[in-house]
Amino acid sequence: MDEIKRILQLREELHQHNFRYYVENSPVISDQEFDFLMHELQDLEARHPEMFDANSPTQRVGSDLNNEFMTVVHSRPMLSLGNTYNRQDVADFWQRVSEGLMGAPFQVCCELKFDGLSISLHYEDGRLVRAVTRGDGIQGDDVTANVRTIRSIPLQLPTGGDYPPQFEIRGEVVMPWSSFNRLNAEREDVGEPLFANPRNAASGTLKSKNSSTVAERGLDAYLYYLLGDGIPGDGHYQNLEAAARWGFQISKNMRLVDSLEGVFEYIDYWNEERRNLPVATDGVVLKVNSLAQQKSLGVTAKSPRWAIAYKFQAEQAETTLRQVVFQVGRTGAVTPVANMDPVQLAGTQVRRATLHNADVMASLDLHVGDRVLVEKGGEIIPKIVGKADPPTPFRGSDEQCSMFNVLPYGQAQAEQCSIKFVENCPVCGSKLVRYEGEAAYYCPNDTGCPPLIMGRIEHFISRKAMNINSLGPETVDDYYRRGLIHDAADLYDLTEEQLTDPLTSDRKGVRKILASIEGSKQVPFERVLYAIGIRFVGEIAAKTLARYYGSIDKVAEASLESLTQINGIGEVIAGSIIQYFANPLNRAFVERLRGYGLQMELGEQQKQTRSNKLEGQSVVISGVFQHHSRDEYKALIEQHGGKNVGSISTKTSFILAGENMGPAKLEKAEKLGIRIMNEDEFLELLNS
Ligand code: IVH
Repeated sequence: MDEIKRILQLREELHQHNFRYYVENSPVISDQEFDFLMHELQDLEARHPEMFDANSPTQRVGSDLNNEFMTVVHSRPMLSLGNTYNRQDVADFWQRVSEGLMGAPFQVCCELKFDGLSISLHYEDGRLVRAVTRGDGIQGDDVTANVRTIRSIPLQLPTGGDYPPQFEIRGEVVMPWSSFNRLNAEREDVGEPLFANPRNAASGTLKSKNSSTVAERGLDAYLYYLLGDGIPGDGHYQNLEAAARWGFQISKNMRLVDSLEGVFEYIDYWNEERRNLPVATDGVVLKVNSLAQQKSLGVTAKSPRWAIAYKFQAEQAETTLRQVVFQVGRTGAVTPVANMDPVQLAGTQVRRATLHNADVMASLDLHVGDRVLVEKGGEIIPKIVGKADPPTPFRGSDEQCSMFNVLPYGQAQAEQCSIKFVENCPVCGSKLVRYEGEAAYYCPNDTGCPPLIMGRIEHFISRKAMNINSLGPETVDDYYRRGLIHDAADLYDLTEEQLTDPLTSDRKGVRKILASIEGSKQVPFERVLYAIGIRFVGEIAAKTLARYYGSIDKVAEASLESLTQINGIGEVIAGSIIQYFANPLNRAFVERLRGYGLQMELGEQQKQTRSNKLEGQSVVISGVFQHHSRDEYKALIEQHGGKNVGSISTKTSFILAGENMGPAKLEKAEKLGIRIMNEDEFLELLNS
């Protein structure tokens, strides 16, 4: 077959498999077959650049190009809905609709209210042509490139479907709990601030400048509103059923009801059951089902008269505020935390709640002794949302209270005194700073303030940095508290005697720790550069800098002009690098690491142009390794011309196997007669 035809055929097939996998959850081919087809398409597209298509399934992985969002005016305004928390309002809505329709019978479609951000998708001849955020409802950002990476959103509908030539479909982009938890765990690992809830995470992700970030984060989307001329029929519910047939992900939990009792049953059921859904929901949306009836009911300035949102009650409790303490996190961010009289809330006893940051705290105008309302909503940590009615009448005078404004960590505050945000770090006393665009205050003393020092050591040993995996954060904190280490460089001075607990004398465990510290001396320079923890220098920036300058000395000498001319290094990162190396303590730290033998320049291997020892070979990596991390082995395979693939097939050249390779894989490899190579054999092969 000619290659052009094959490209078109593969695209169509892959779109269908995508739908089966991501929307219907019932794939008909294996992941491996899918990858195989995808690779064939990638190869063909590489040979035919003239066939480039932004909607090709190969484009789902995103790109590193910066997305400058264009503002787009919505063809019809994106209205929001009237919100209510109260059942009487729902009954009133029913009554208003009934009166508005002059007593005619009507049905209401009950839906879940997904907690993400709304999106408008435009299709022409079955192709996704534009995706726009809600913005202010009149105009929004064109986020098409980012939305293309969301697997459950079809880029191309199957040809010959009964969809209109042009239509718009709206819905919600969400981050499933599983993606959210994974993302926050990763961020915690590297000391980045956590997202408070899936909505913030979804919204931050969708507005990301870099679509490959979006692709990695596992967003999903549910569509709930079809618009345009020529859509199938008068029923909203039936139209969405049609959209589901065309390939869109439509919630399976919509119900048509024809009575107010039916609405309440739906609300009561999902108020409980929503805890078992894979995504966050914050209420129920009720829509009059007939489009003709919707039209006759009309819209007000802000929202339609034919729909309403009932929000689930975030559980609240009332208690007394006793004290506010200021906690210094591992990144130096200072968080005000309220201590309160214990109170029962959403199944647990709560005595602490976050006040988020200085702005939130100031807006609450809190005093010790205030009766406060605590809530556990979409956020994981309870928060104080306001003061109980009636407010506490008496306040101490400003003079009486001024002496309590700056408090050492954990000290009690006087009753009735207004609580102000601290100006100095409650741990080390340094004056706090606020970085542009951030709500938090930070302690800047990252070489002298204990929580920051521990945070920096934890970052240093983390998987993507030095990967000293026999040490965990708790052990590091313990060594620090015992005075065994004061910074990450001290790890390389630890001895067996120091670490062996005289009571248990677990020498084996200690030797393992020392071996993995020793092993980290082989970690490549780019990760050392990341590990030393220059603020704003993440994994990618470190890699870029390492490749560009080749050694730590060159990075340390680089000027602002030199740094900012590198793609991906902006002024913030550049300024932070200069500041880091201007500090003699940091330079001394780097010198000590160099003295212990850490990699301070690119290895010969990385400097050399890639070898072709593994050209044309597909390698599967499996198991746990001693010498290098999985990611390093992956990079090595690529540097030597090979391809790292996910699953074993007849095309696999060999398996690079560590310890504990899965039994299923082992069996498959044996059945297909594929060679299993251990780490040492593999490294020998590369060095031969
Ligand atoms: S319908 C005119 N249905 O809630 C109808 N909205 O203020 C417009 N939402 O902005 C929206 N789930 O972001 C609708 N099943 C659902 C929804 C939903 C979540 C969001 C949407 C909208 C807001 C309502």
